[in-house]
Amino acid sequence: MSAQVERSTNETNNDEEIEDAGQAKLISCIEGINGITAADITKLKDGGYYTVESIAYAPKKHLLTIKGISEAKADKIMAEASKLVVMGFKSATEIHQSRANIVFISTGSAELDRLLGGGIETGSITEIFGEFRTGKTQLAHTLAVNCQLPIDMGGAEGKCLWIDTEGTFRPERLVACAERYKMAAESVLDNVASARAYNTDHQTQLLIMASAMMTESRYALLIVDSATALYRTDYSGRGELSARQMHLARFLRMLLRIADEHGVAVVITNQVVAQVDGAASMFGGDQKKPIGGNIIAHASTTRLYLRKGRGETRICKIYDSPCLPESEAMFSINADGIGDVKE
Ligand SMILES: Nc1ncnc2c1ncn2[C@@H]1O[C@H](COP(=O)(O)OP(=O)(O)OP(=O)(O)O)[C@@H](O)[C@H]1O
Ligand SMILES: [Mg+2]
Repeated sequence: MSAQVERSTNETNNDEEIEDAGQAKLISCIEGINGITAADITKLKDGGYYTVESIAYAPKKHLLTIKGISEAKADKIMAEASKLVVMGFKSATEIHQSRANIVFISTGSAELDRLLGGGIETGSITEIFGEFRTGKTQLAHTLAVNCQLPIDMGGAEGKCLWIDTEGTFRPERLVACAERYKMAAESVLDNVASARAYNTDHQTQLLIMASAMMTESRYALLIVDSATALYRTDYSGRGELSARQMHLARFLRMLLRIADEHGVAVVITNQVVAQVDGAASMFGGDQKKPIGGNIIAHASTTRLYLRKGRGETRICKIYDSPCLPESEAMFSINADGIGDVKE
């Protein structure tokens, strides 16, 4: 599910029973049905399930890992959830129509937006990877402001959540971007909530909180800057590689679920490491590759590779996308955020 243009219009819901959590349905709407008690709902929330969608999309074995949920209860919960969520086939016409309504968040650079087919797509994961100082964090700051803009100005009319693993979130960068759009700095700051993550378990825990916050207010963007840094410190040895990949896979599955259920754009940043296997260079001529291997590659819908250009300019290359060609655009890191390169 992606943020749709209709979100900004006053769409009425036929089923009044269903409480509105942005676009997702709160799990409280299956309480009292088929023997599902308030205590069951609490257990589901403790397990990180806040919406009917999160249950309908989950494999049964995940529900069974929640303390106090029996197999029979899991069956009932899944049956009720799946009644409320459409999960069958749709015609390509319908899909085409709803894709035409997907909201994109402007990057601040018209050139870069053009490359991306409008900006950063809501409802899916975009990975931004590149060496240090290539502008990953700066781009994230600009997006955190732009997502609040009206849709016709390149925004998505929602708030931003930021998970900061490196201590590089800077409200003053948001203020600088806000001035450019003549937005009130105070409300721009109020609409961005940031949490510092200290280890990979904590980083995962924060997603459960994020999911809960998204049921209460309308968010358009979730940033994880960086998604992989803590994995490098928490799992250092070669022997820990498979445990690391499993943990990372779980983290990314949760991100996918959030993108899908709440229609937010999920933007994760990632560093690169020297390519040890000496394979043919795929990343613009330098022997570097993003961290996380196939696990990240599969979870991200769009992968963007940033590299340095002259001065404050940077080059963004589409490394992987289901519908964009492999091409490049140049942008600039300015005092007021990401912008076009001035001639
Ligand atoms: N206030 C500012 N005005 C203009 N440019 C800035 C400003 N603050 C930072 N920059 C530029 O942004 C660049 C750093 O970008 P950024 O922090 O986004 O890198 P990064 O890709 O996140 O790196 P890392 O991998 O280390 O996190 C620097 O080259 C710096 O010149
Ligand atoms: Mg950074």
